[in-house]
Amino acid sequence: MAYETINVTKITPKIGAEISGVDISSELTDQQFDEIHRAFLENQVVVFRNQKLSVDQHKAFGKRFGDLHIHPASPNKIEGHPEILVIKADENSKIVAGEGWHSDVSCDLCPPLGSLLYMHQTPASGGGDTLFLSGYAAYDKLSEPMKNFLSQLTAVHDGDHVYRGRYGLNDNNKTYPSAEHPVIRTHPETLRPTIFVNRGFTTHIPQLSSIESKRLLEMLYDYQEDENFQCRIKWEPNTLVFWDNRCVQHRAMWDYFPNRRYAHRVTVVGDRPYFKRQDEIVHANAAE
Ligand SMILES: [Fe+2]
Repeated sequence: MAYETINVTKITPKIGAEISGVDISSELTDQQFDEIHRAFLENQVVVFRNQKLSVDQHKAFGKRFGDLHIHPASPNKIEGHPEILVIKADENSKIVAGEGWHSDVSCDLCPPLGSLLYMHQTPASGGGDTLFLSGYAAYDKLSEPMKNFLSQLTAVHDGDHVYRGRYGLNDNNKTYPSAEHPVIRTHPETLRPTIFVNRGFTTHIPQLSSIESKRLLEMLYDYQEDENFQCRIKWEPNTLVFWDNRCVQHRAMWDYFPNRRYAHRVTVVGDRPYFKRQDEIVHANAAE
């Protein structure tokens, strides 16, 4: 279906699109919102350039998609706005958030629907791109026996090894989220299956022995990280990127040390991952 209120230009056939012709700081009409939502579901990662957004406008746009998430580990950096996650790297940084492939906070029982990252400052010498991969594209290329096998499994996603000690706070008495999710997840809006394990948070597959779990996860990580399933976004100040955390993983390049990169993230609450076989979905639709 064509778009009437926005322009959508695909970045690759499988993942990513640039959306232009809309000012997301303004009060969006229902049709504008519906078309942005549709482009988001179709392309999984959408990029808006030259947007002037205040903290409140950034939050307001995120709220159109659902309740806003508060990060389980990062301290509140913007007074009065706990929903804003500050993403910052400079000459003093020892580590950078999101440098390895991951899906945001997949250790939550209900991992985020998506994240909206708004760039304030890009590194002076370039770099700092974000890579995205499509879990749909990766799933679609699996062999049928592997799809069937993986659809019977769950995986544990743990926040402790990711977050403990990261923010320089005394967190000895703090507990970080951990959750078990299906390895193949049905996207709750598109109903498409997608691979839902990532290097950052996934620790093991409880139905398998330790070596089986380790090797199978390594295979899935290597397999998903194929460049054929990816797009790469180059940032400018005032770029907003909104990605679908339910079917996309991302990796932030830190190739610009000691230069500074500064962004704000708003994250939308998601629902609990589930898996439903495609024939069950077809039957359910036929019965409606
Ligand atoms: Fe991230």
